[in-house]
Amino acid sequence: MCGIVGYLGKDDVISVIISGLKRLEYRGYDSCGFSVYDKKGQDLTLKTVGRVAALEKMAESLDFEAVCGIGHSRWATHGLVTEKNAHPHFDCKKEIFLVHNGIIENYKEIKKKLLERGHKFVSDTDTEVLVHLIEEFFKGNLEEAVHRALKYIKGAYAIAVISKKDPGKIVVARKSSPLVFSVEKNRAIVASDPTPILPFSDKVVFLEDDELAVLTPEGFKVFDFEKKQKIREPQVLDWTIEESEKGGFSHFMLKEIFEEPEAVENSIRGRIVLDEGIAKLGGLEMVSDKLSKIDRLILVACGTASYACMVGEYMIEENAEIPVEVDVASEFRYRNPILDKKTAFLAVSQSGETADTLAALREAKRKGLLSLGVVNMVGSSITRETEAGVYNHIGPEIAVAATKSFISQLSILALLTVFLGRQRNMSLSKGQEILGALKKLPDLMRETLKENDEKMKNLAEKYSKYRNFIFLGRKYNYPVALEGALKLKEIAFYIHAEGFPTGEIKHGPIALADENLPFFFIAPKDSVYDKVVSNMEEVRARKAPIIAITTKGNSELEKIADDVIYVPQTIEMLMPILNTIPLHLFAYYMGNILGCDVDKPRNLAKSVTVE
Ligand code: AGP
Ligand code: GLU
Repeated sequence: MCGIVGYLGKDDVISVIISGLKRLEYRGYDSCGFSVYDKKGQDLTLKTVGRVAALEKMAESLDFEAVCGIGHSRWATHGLVTEKNAHPHFDCKKEIFLVHNGIIENYKEIKKKLLERGHKFVSDTDTEVLVHLIEEFFKGNLEEAVHRALKYIKGAYAIAVISKKDPGKIVVARKSSPLVFSVEKNRAIVASDPTPILPFSDKVVFLEDDELAVLTPEGFKVFDFEKKQKIREPQVLDWTIEESEKGGFSHFMLKEIFEEPEAVENSIRGRIVLDEGIAKLGGLEMVSDKLSKIDRLILVACGTASYACMVGEYMIEENAEIPVEVDVASEFRYRNPILDKKTAFLAVSQSGETADTLAALREAKRKGLLSLGVVNMVGSSITRETEAGVYNHIGPEIAVAATKSFISQLSILALLTVFLGRQRNMSLSKGQEILGALKKLPDLMRETLKENDEKMKNLAEKYSKYRNFIFLGRKYNYPVALEGALKLKEIAFYIHAEGFPTGEIKHGPIALADENLPFFFIAPKDSVYDKVVSNMEEVRARKAPIIAITTKGNSELEKIADDVIYVPQTIEMLMPILNTIPLHLFAYYMGNILGCDVDKPRNLAKSVTVE
């Protein structure tokens, strides 16, 4: 999610906030704004769609002696990209100002109650409910009101709140989204990461989940959500500004690989109703009835997103029993697909702007199909041109290579599988099995990252002299093989890599097998494991190096493969998420070793908006 900056002190408040927002620009955003007040209690709020530079221009001619202020760069999740939806948001009396990173899941029910109590809303965002809720509880002490309001909030947030009626403090709180602050030399500064703070101080406090802090120029106090004070010592950061932008990682790609567990948490948050075994996809509610009547689904995307669709095909056919076909967008639009009104079309796209996918969507709409999207960028072209859809809610993906977006797409396609399946013959227990496994997945992903990061770095070093690789997977893991090959090709250029269904190996590719061609087998202990092992033996017989990914505890492959990577067990349809993590790490480390610009690989763009 995007950027928060708050400042209280003697420096030029507005310029500190604007330069802080500029330092957070790398995170990607669609609009921005700030609210400040002066020592006489006058306030000023400026907001704009677009760049921080536009906000800076608006502030140029201001003559306003602010003493305190908060700023925000928005990555829209609820409410289109408009000036009125930009943060900060304020209460009815314009005395309390708030910025928020994250998602308030239960905002609709809270907004309904607040409207009934006469509150006036100016935006369509989820965020605005929080500042009106704080207003409800405000009796003169801001942190007390924030404490009480947060008890009603479900979701993810990092917030900064100020009030003209309780001046001289910034109240901050976090659950899931990051927040860090520094109080030193009579100034308090808070931000989404240390980047805006480093020019002032290297002593910072990273707020932890379920913590609230009160910042004043003289000092700070940290409380848990039961209002128990916690002692938090500032830590000294030796990060450079650039390292801070990457959260201490050396590249955005590695940072985003390590964000993959959080991406799943953000994508499934508020969308699982375990006791009913159903997936709650608000963005599909208005077409739920139409979806219950379709008898075919077409999934269309490009590149990595198309591999997510291929996994989705297996998921939905096997568990929701709806015929699915996957088309690469650039092909869909030129063939003459025989479509009828009982076919639904689903475009999957991180950017929501991929030209081929957009063109395929328009072709499907011309043929009268129900058009849906799974998109990360709110308000993008695909979201505007589809009838309904599901947002990833994973914040911006900065590296050109799709990593966390692929993982998020798989988790959303798993939710869609349950959504569609439970409209049909999927049992309560089956729905609960899938959703229960999905809820447990982020911890298994963290375990996979922890246990394989160093291992994949070493493997990349060991195999860095090879210039060709083959990736093999069966059933759910065939698309994972394609993704592993694409990621390696994209990131570690000069290396050629190709993915195949494991069973295809004997229909040609095995002719390539020799000691110069490593084979990556994705071989979890699943319904097709034994077949994969026999394919592995065939390759072994040709002396090709073998790297195998398999399930923890299955040591059988140590005898056949040169290197074995272990991932935890989950249900078969979710294994692609765990199996992909080592492949993303492998591509990253290979690219690094070969000295490639892993965040901006040559010839590639983050969003291919041309045909
Ligand atoms: C993946 O690493 C590539 N950057 C590319 O294949 C990408 O997945 C494809 O261009 C689709 O982009 P989209 O998800 O934004 O539509
Ligand atoms: N959910 C809020 C909105 O859509 C905050 C988004 C963000 O994190 O920037 O305005």
